Amino acid sequence: MSVQTQSRRISVTDIRAHKNQQPVVVLTCYHAHTARLLDQVVDIMLVGDSLGMVMHGMESTLGVTLDMMITHAKAVMRGSSRALVVVDMPFGSYEESPQVAFRNAARVLQETGATAIKLEGGARMAETITYLTQRGVPVMGHIGLTPQSVNVTGGFKTVGRTEADWPVILADAKAVADAGAFSVVLEGMAEPLAARITAEIAIPTIGIGASPACDGQVLVLEDMLGLNPNPPKFVRQYAQLGPAIEAAVKAYAADVRDRSFPGAENVYQMKKAQ
Ligand code: KIV
Repeated sequence: MSVQTQSRRISVTDIRAHKNQQPVVVLTCYHAHTARLLDQVVDIMLVGDSLGMVMHGMESTLGVTLDMMITHAKAVMRGSSRALVVVDMPFGSYEESPQVAFRNAARVLQETGATAIKLEGGARMAETITYLTQRGVPVMGHIGLTPQSVNVTGGFKTVGRTEADWPVILADAKAVADAGAFSVVLEGMAEPLAARITAEIAIPTIGIGASPACDGQVLVLEDMLGLNPNPPKFVRQYAQLGPAIEAAVKAYAADVRDRSFPGAENVYQMKKAQ
């Protein structure tokens, strides 16, 4: 029996078909080597603007530019051939008008070869989502805790803890779905609300710190691999790469200092002896 690898990329239609079926597996990804490792396993690689913090040591996502997103998305595309690649629109690149959003989203898709973009906001972004999808730009929505609005909301707080808050958030979810988004991220959301949204809208919900009832889950790769010393509380860590890298670096430094590091000459001698 031969093992076949899928030769076409997962499409947004494939993702839509996950509704009420097998959960969608999503991880963030910002560079080529990790893209290669994730590609055959996940359904979606999200080039998230969280790369501002993870890759560039920023305090928030607000300083991330379109050029930064494009650079990282190109790397992820070069490292992958199967997973759907979704690229975050950074703060300031889409809020002004549907036309500005289209120009910048088109640049992302043209320059990177990625399939879709993600943008933050509910009902207020519905017109833009319709404008983009009608012009060939698939959109993933993002509601609940929206990190690009941190200066307005005053922090990274879970939303929907009290039922009185639910109608507005539910309306946001419905507006994004009705506008034509192919899926929507629910971030930092009380479980019962995330479960209700998932039951009431026709597109897959992708949870992060939301609910296992969502149609899929997304995590920041470096958080779940143990590279972030202060990951969010809801993150389950599947590896401890931080300590593993520290140990490897220490072993390397000891080898260099002991002069037991194989130099080019040693490698040449070893090859000759084989
Ligand atoms: O930027 C990002 O990584 C994200 C996920 C947390 C959903 O938007």
